[in-house]
Amino acid sequence: PDLRLAPDHLHRGEGTFLSVVHCQQPSCSLTFTARCTNMNPSVPNRPCFLASKSESIIHILSHRRYMNTVEELKREAGKTACSFVRDGMKIGLGTGSTIKYTVIEIGRMISEEGLEVIGVPTSEATKELAESLGIPLSTIEKASPLDITIDGADEFDPDFQLIKGGGGALTREKRVAAKSEAMVVVADDRKQVTTLGAFDLPLEVGKNDWQRVSAELQEFCPGQVNLRGGNSPYVTDNDGYILDCQFGSTITDPASLENQIKSIEGVVEVGLFIDMCDAVVMASPSGVSTLLKQGGRLD
Ligand code: A5P
Repeated sequence: PDLRLAPDHLHRGEGTFLSVVHCQQPSCSLTFTARCTNMNPSVPNRPCFLASKSESIIHILSHRRYMNTVEELKREAGKTACSFVRDGMKIGLGTGSTIKYTVIEIGRMISEEGLEVIGVPTSEATKELAESLGIPLSTIEKASPLDITIDGADEFDPDFQLIKGGGGALTREKRVAAKSEAMVVVADDRKQVTTLGAFDLPLEVGKNDWQRVSAELQEFCPGQVNLRGGNSPYVTDNDGYILDCQFGSTITDPASLENQIKSIEGVVEVGLFIDMCDAVVMASPSGVSTLLKQGGRLD
C-alpha cells in the first residue's frame, strides 16, 4: 500500500523536521518518528517520508508499491525525486532514461500545480524534452549557482560515489552538478554496488586524442578500453568521443583514479562523480527508498 502521513501530524513548514507519523491504511498499525522532507508545502499531496538511521546513510521509505518492470522502477524513482523540488528553484536536469521521468513530472507540476522553476539541461536530448513540456530553461552560465541537480547514474557505491556517462553526457552533467548546492540521483536498485567499476567507466576525450589516451589508459586499466561506437564513433554534445574502460569492480579509491586519469593529456572529463551526490532515490521491486548521505548537503 501507499504510505501517507496522517494529515493531523503533517507539519506544513518548509524544510526538514521531525514528526510523528503513521500509516493511513486502515489495516496498518505502523507508527514512526520520522524526518519529514515535504519541501514544497504549497503543493499538496507530496509524499512524505518514513526514516530510519543507519551508520552513514539515512534510509527513508517514501512509499511501498510492488513493481515488476525496470521501466516502472525508473518511473517511480524519477517521479519520487520531485519531492526535492520546490517553488523558485533553479534545477539541473540530468540525462538518461530515469531522469526523463523527473523531467516529465516537473512539466506536469508546472502545468497542473503552477510550480515555478527554471531548469538547466545537461544535454541536447534533455533540453528538447524539457522544452516540449514547457519547462523554462536557462544555461549554467546564466543560472549558476543552482539549488539542486537531479540526474541518473550508472552505479553508486555506499559512499555515494558515482559512475556516470552511460548516456555520453558526463561532461555537461558534471559541470552542472558541480555548480549545484545539492545533487540527487535517481536510479533503480541494479545501480547499487559495493565497489564501483562493473559498469565500464566512461571518459570523454578529444577526437584527435583518443588513440594516445587509450594507449596510456591501457597501462593501468585491467580490462579493455573501447572507443564507443567503434568504427562509427559516438560523438558527444561537445563534439568529443567516449572511451569505455573495463576496470571491473576494482575501483576502491575513485578519487585517486579520477586524478590519475585526468592527468592524461586529452582527457576532457572522467565519469567518476566524487563527493557530489547527497541522496539517491532508488526504486526496487518492493518500493522506493530515498538514501540520504549522512553529513551530506541534504542531511
Ligand atoms: C548520461 O550520460 C548518464 O550519466 C546517465 O545519467 C546514466 O547513464 C544513467 O542513465 P539511465 O537512467 O538511462 O540508466
